[in-house]
Amino acid sequence: MQSPSPVSARILVILSIIIPSFMNVSVADEGFCSAPSNSDSYSNSGRMYWKVTNPTLAPSHLRDLPGFTRSVYKRDHALITPESHVFSPLPEWTNTLGAYLITPAMGSHFVMYLANMQGNSRSGLPPYDVERFVFVVQGTVTLTNVSGVNHELMVDSYAYLPPNSEHSISCDASATLVVFERRYASLKNHITEQIVGSTVKQPLLETPGEVFELRKLLPTSAPYDFNIHIMDFQPGEFLNVKEIHYNQHGLLLLEGQGIYRLGDSWYPIQAGDAIWMAPFVPQWYAALGKTRSRYLLYKDVNRNPL
Ligand SMILES: *[C@@H]1O[C@H](CO)[C@@H](O)[C@H](O)[C@H]1NC(C)=O
Repeated sequence: MQSPSPVSARILVILSIIIPSFMNVSVADEGFCSAPSNSDSYSNSGRMYWKVTNPTLAPSHLRDLPGFTRSVYKRDHALITPESHVFSPLPEWTNTLGAYLITPAMGSHFVMYLANMQGNSRSGLPPYDVERFVFVVQGTVTLTNVSGVNHELMVDSYAYLPPNSEHSISCDASATLVVFERRYASLKNHITEQIVGSTVKQPLLETPGEVFELRKLLPTSAPYDFNIHIMDFQPGEFLNVKEIHYNQHGLLLLEGQGIYRLGDSWYPIQAGDAIWMAPFVPQWYAALGKTRSRYLLYKDVNRNPL
């Protein structure tokens, strides 16, 4: 932006004396202050998870830099950032565009995708023996199960659908879901049940030796072969354990910014970024920026790795 002429600068000073709040506006507009303007960071912050679909580095801006993406794909991890998402019609769904972010082609035993539901849209069913977890990041959908019972799922709400349970998710306006699906690893004498909930209603759990806040969205009991963790970090907080483990992860950063270490690589990340972590990839996170970091994390549990 051009600096104001001496005359207009004088007018600004005079106005700022008359109207104190005017000074803030003029300073930010002249670029003396490099912090993001209020309208950028806070005006929409009342809307939960809005940064997932409106990231700070907007895909539309990154498209102006030829060939640039923050996305990375390596043998044992991947970072998939919004400017490299490719949406296409989701098989079996109507009026819905999907972007598969993690699939078995990478080595995972699950898929993770975003589903952009438009007006009058409807989900299809997952393949036979495949369980499904959906979490709403934007908009509202209606889940109808085989008993004909409806559940309204708003932002922050989620549902788990057991394998081979008939259901449909419909949307009148527009909604974005993050969806996880995997072939259910059945256990003798155990079955899973439909679960509907929202993060805000889940209790905080103990995290010995760690400072982050943890919620689990699914029961920890034996029938469930995965869980979805919601992990909150205040700016400056980080994982104490530099974890290496047999479990695999799919992660979506719902809020905030930070640095993720994966193997020997260190990545700045922001809300809207997705990460694939293969078994045994060294992993570590530090929350930075000005606001809370929150991520949603798939983790396989309760089964013998053999
Ligand atoms: C349908 O949803 C209702 C309410 O959540 C639940 O009680 C019922 O068990 C569900 N039906 C099936 C077949 O899961």
